[in-house]
Amino acid sequence: MEKNFKRTTVTSALPYANGPVHIGHLAGVYVPADIYVRYLRLKKEDVLFVGGSDEHGVPITIRARKEGITPQDVVDRYHTLIRDSFREFGISFDVYGRTTSDVHRETASAFFRKLYDKGEFVEKTSMQYYDEEAHTFLADRYITGECPHCHAEGAYGDQCEKCGTSLSPTDLINPKSAVSGSQPVMKETKHWYLPLDKHEAWLRQWILEDHKEWRNNVYGQCKSWLDMGLQPRAVSRDLDWGIPVPVEGADGKVLYVWFDAPIGYISNTKELLPDTWETWWKDPETRLVHFIGKDNIVFHCIVFPAMLKAEGSFILPDNVPSNEFLNLEGDKISTSRNWAVWLHEYLRDFPGKQDVLRYVLTANAPETKDNDFTWKDFQARNNNELVAVYGNFVNRALQLTQKYYDGEVPVCGELTDYDRMTLDEFKDVKAKVEELLNAFKFRDAQKEAMNLARIGNKYIADSEPWKVVKTDPERVKTVIYISLQLTANLAIAFEPFLPFSSERLRGMLHMESFEWERLGSTDLLPSGHRLAKPELLFEKIEDETIEAQVQKLLDTKKANEEASYRAKPIRENIAFEDFEKLDIRVGTVLECTKVPKADKLLCFKIADGLENRTIVSGIAKHYKPEELVGKQVCFIANLAPRKLKGIESQGMILSALNNDDTLSVVTVDREVKPGSEVG
Ligand code: MF3
Ligand code: ZN
Repeated sequence: MEKNFKRTTVTSALPYANGPVHIGHLAGVYVPADIYVRYLRLKKEDVLFVGGSDEHGVPITIRARKEGITPQDVVDRYHTLIRDSFREFGISFDVYGRTTSDVHRETASAFFRKLYDKGEFVEKTSMQYYDEEAHTFLADRYITGECPHCHAEGAYGDQCEKCGTSLSPTDLINPKSAVSGSQPVMKETKHWYLPLDKHEAWLRQWILEDHKEWRNNVYGQCKSWLDMGLQPRAVSRDLDWGIPVPVEGADGKVLYVWFDAPIGYISNTKELLPDTWETWWKDPETRLVHFIGKDNIVFHCIVFPAMLKAEGSFILPDNVPSNEFLNLEGDKISTSRNWAVWLHEYLRDFPGKQDVLRYVLTANAPETKDNDFTWKDFQARNNNELVAVYGNFVNRALQLTQKYYDGEVPVCGELTDYDRMTLDEFKDVKAKVEELLNAFKFRDAQKEAMNLARIGNKYIADSEPWKVVKTDPERVKTVIYISLQLTANLAIAFEPFLPFSSERLRGMLHMESFEWERLGSTDLLPSGHRLAKPELLFEKIEDETIEAQVQKLLDTKKANEEASYRAKPIRENIAFEDFEKLDIRVGTVLECTKVPKADKLLCFKIADGLENRTIVSGIAKHYKPEELVGKQVCFIANLAPRKLKGIESQGMILSALNNDDTLSVVTVDREVKPGSEVG
């Protein structure tokens, strides 16, 4: 269903203003959105790029409480930090607003009111935890207790962070209010629900039939939500931070953050274009595209469209390109564990290298599956691709021009077959990049741009102008002419991806004609045109720099391990007689072998002072059998025998489990006779 649109509204998810932004944000949402927008602008299309901060929600109130400041203080601090980070990375928003603005408050409020007046909500009462000391209903995150699965203390009402299980507050054992510490009680509360079940039929048609072109991950998630059957969703909360529910008798209730935040796209447009915003949101000839991360899919493909449809006057998104997640050095990025590369820190540690990160994040974009960012890969891509391919080619072309022609584009002579072949290779770069960008395939598109530089490198290396100049100086003019045209093409092709480098290159080339339309042309720089003094586009990143970053992460890991290590609670007391029942002895390991077909088990022959015995123990991951022979170990001698992999095990060897899952067998400090009692 190709439709002809007149303009495009591009939104990128509004990040929560409760912490700085990191490389995962950039890779997942903002770099691809920015590439897309820059590309459309280069094509002279009408486009609006909307961003902003998401400043409501419970985590912001929790953070404020922890730091003893107001939620407004929290969002003021992070909104500014986030906005500045994006600006520094060249994310070219037309507007970057915030959901605590007056315009937004009014817009979201009126939106709710319109749905309310149209009868688009259902009202329901339910039982929820209430803190009688603090006189407040408790959001899921405000209730902590013991996890019913792993029995860790301090699990939240929505999730246990220890074992990762998602919970509801009533699952917690011994729930406590995080506000006052008191034990919460169940109390009735009323909320407004968006009856998604009523929207299911058209959503099915609209997504599953009319938008089969959406990315597989997006389409698949939608399909599974729809197939499970949609339920009414509460769009209000009992909370004192947010936009008040604009209805009689709704004291103490605010709009649910996921209700107001997407309306933020509209409010921010309004803020920028108070008179014409409707064109960008209501004209059927406007194409709406949402860039988001995968945890936002249901809200942008199902909930927000249902809100827009219920309102009645808005267009629906045409596409929702969503990325998977970016991991960091093999682990999930986590704000609370400080496992991230923060953008403001990168900017401090790598000044002027915004394009390097943009390049690496696009080259490694988690478009179809989760991907991993490693510092080694970052270094390799910088040194082997940006420096050795792109930078090297440009530098050669410009230096040779400087050296042979005093910085002036030479006249192009007669073309050889090899020249023609080279020109042929890059003439359809425009069509290729366009096709890929139209399909939101950013990593492949960037590869095409890089391919231009590869072609150039090979062309110069094969043509060897530095040799030929001695025998056939006329020929060299043609080689340099073609190389310079390629260089100018690179500046255009890379503009959406690496805007800072393109701008510098454009400056070095004194390039006036800088039009996407002319990408692929061989006369971008006319003969006689003067170039500026060349500089290096990229520089090598040394091992020490990378090692410092890796070390920083290792330090974080260590700090986290130390912080998260909590000794297991001591078990209930037992009677002395119970202890006396245990017969613990020392034995000497005579033999130790691997148990065939069991990768965890070791089989011991132990001298126990009597007749020697066999014990099977599950510690093969921690010791090589030969390491244990001759050691004196402690074992339980009167444990009822059990068969393990067909071997009768007569006891249990004692060992201590370390918090990092390493293990150490319990031995004695001075040698004793085999069979000595431990007690
Ligand atoms: N703040 C949300 C998140 O970081 C995204 C909100 S997107 C919007 O996951 F549509 F609600 F604005
Ligand atoms: Zn748990």
